[in-house]
Amino acid sequence: MLQSPLMKAVRREPVAQTPVWLMRQAGRFLPEYRKLRQSTPFLELCKTPDLAAEIMIATVRRLGVDAAILFSDLLLILEPMGMQLEFSAGGGPVLHNPLRTATDVDRLAELDSVEPLGFVMETVRKTREGLPDSIPLIGFAGAPFTLAAYAIEGGTSRDYRLAKAMMYTDTGAWDALMARLARAVTLYLNAQIDAGAQLVQVFDSWAGCLGVEDYRRYVLPHTRSVLEAIRPGVPVIHFATGNPSLLPSLSEAFGKKRRDAAVGVDWRIPLDDAWRAIGYDRAIQGNLDPAVLLAGPSEIRRRVRELLHRAGSRPGHIFNLGHGVLPQTPVENVLTLVQAVHEFSPCGGR
Ligand code: CP3
Repeated sequence: MLQSPLMKAVRREPVAQTPVWLMRQAGRFLPEYRKLRQSTPFLELCKTPDLAAEIMIATVRRLGVDAAILFSDLLLILEPMGMQLEFSAGGGPVLHNPLRTATDVDRLAELDSVEPLGFVMETVRKTREGLPDSIPLIGFAGAPFTLAAYAIEGGTSRDYRLAKAMMYTDTGAWDALMARLARAVTLYLNAQIDAGAQLVQVFDSWAGCLGVEDYRRYVLPHTRSVLEAIRPGVPVIHFATGNPSLLPSLSEAFGKKRRDAAVGVDWRIPLDDAWRAIGYDRAIQGNLDPAVLLAGPSEIRRRVRELLHRAGSRPGHIFNLGHGVLPQTPVENVLTLVQAVHEFSPCGGR
């Protein structure tokens, strides 16, 4: 498993074929998943380890990707901390008791143990058991900022004004919240590793709503405390979207000691520019626009080839989309993508 293309790429070792997996590779674009969802609500799927494991194992087999990711959700960690989570019929998450004041923040419970999230560790174990040895399993969690933004806004937001308002007006409450989330996420990720995850990805999906100075002042120290405390020797991918000028800071958040580290990049910046910004001492993951999968096979193949050229012959590229697969994506287009990455890589067929 340590010799699998993904584990080699994240260590920046040369590979015969560039590894590829897709964020949201198990989800609504797959007819099998949609069928299962007709009878089982999403949160129940996440809390039934046999089903959650089987979804990901079947997805990896069907798509031919080089990694599995834990089937779960970013927001589940907030439940044992006292937040009421619901996925509405329309799909979006809702937190019914959002944190709006310092008193609310005080009420958020410390996650002292991962026992209430035992079903996640069980899913990790079962997924690992059902996967071929050659396929690494990625554990994941939200970064403190993205979790804090959800907890404060109470769901998805367009402008994150409530989260930013707390950050600017009550920095004490903000830092207390971020530190509590950072401790929880650290515990959670290390428990996933103990249960059988070979590497982990930290999603800071909404960090791109911040400018660089705010990111560095209000977010980076907390994310760094998570990334530095993940078990030594376990590779980590740090992913954010929306603001390419954050890339050097995302890389810096690993601290000085961690060697096997990758930064996940969205499509708003060319991959070669992104790698320069991150530093060549890191691996890079990304960064095809998910909307390209709505185009036809020839355009998909052309874009894959172009992206692999941008990665060039430098080891350390993990092929992925710049964000999750869109639910409207035809399955055959994903198959075309995976096949094209393997066919043209590692450097665009040259
Ligand atoms: O294939 C995978 O990546 C499987 C596991 C996975 C899910 N969510 C399953 C899911 C992962 C890694 C996540 C992470 C996640 N969840 C993130 C970070 C990644 C990102 O997209 O930025 C975030 C922000 C969430 C929160 C979340 N969960 C939202 C905003 C939504 C609704 C919108 C959407 O895209 O569906 C979800 C729902 C969700 N998470 C589904 C799945 C399979 C769909 C649920 C359904 O069946 O309706």
